[in-house]
Amino acid sequence: MNVTQAIESRITTRAFLDTPVSGEVLRSILDTARRSPSGGNLQPWHVWVLGGEEMVRFKAMIKGRLDAGQFGEEGSYEIYPPKLKEPYRSRRFKCGEDLYATINVAREDKAGRMAQFARNFEFFGAPAAFFFFLDKVMGPPQWSDVGMFMQSITLLAREQRLHTCPQEAWSVWHKTVSEFFSVPDDLMLFCGMGIGTMDESNPINTLRTDRAPLEEIATFVGI
Ligand SMILES: Cc1cc2nc3c(=O)[nH]c(=O)nc-3n(C[C@H](O)[C@H](O)[C@H](O)COP(=O)(O)O)c2cc1C
Repeated sequence: MNVTQAIESRITTRAFLDTPVSGEVLRSILDTARRSPSGGNLQPWHVWVLGGEEMVRFKAMIKGRLDAGQFGEEGSYEIYPPKLKEPYRSRRFKCGEDLYATINVAREDKAGRMAQFARNFEFFGAPAAFFFFLDKVMGPPQWSDVGMFMQSITLLAREQRLHTCPQEAWSVWHKTVSEFFSVPDDLMLFCGMGIGTMDESNPINTLRTDRAPLEEIATFVGI
């Protein structure tokens, strides 16, 4: 698989098979992803890897809290800017509508949408997951570095015939996640990411999100 094929075949996967992913594969993906670039070579990423019995224990703990009516903690950061402006607002809206259309959940079906959203907190069935943290002193450039590291992982996963689901939804459980892993106080959770084998039979994985045309996002000067 070449880089173009990895990029073109990667999609956010929201239904996984329970086929385990070996620790060896996860380790190898992370080992190669260490080569991701970062400003000043700070390598500001810290990653916790979850699987096996600990994954079962973690999911049961979160489920217990959700069942008790707790819907997370105060988020550690604003996922989107308040009053998202155009064209971002429409893009976000369309992505949500297209997603729920794949599983026939109507806009008015608040419970159905909530139930689907809550699947985030089961990693959509993925057998393993990453949690990405960075030092609280870091700013936007280093957050972007962590994004590069995460993208390397999503592409390396494709090379292993695996799929991924980046999940900033986990930021609403940042305290719980940090406590579970005994993460040092100077680190904050940015994002989770489920990893595993895609369930090709689940309609939710038929979603193919669109992209703005090149002319809309790129300005060529002298080329
Ligand atoms: C940093 C980041 C966080 C994301 N968090 C979530 C999430 O919490 N839950 C989810 O279902 N999708 C999440 N996504 C997936 C995006 O919705 C998805 O990337 C976007 O709609 C484009 O679709 P594609 O990845 O299938 O190309 C996240 C993506 C990124 C890059």
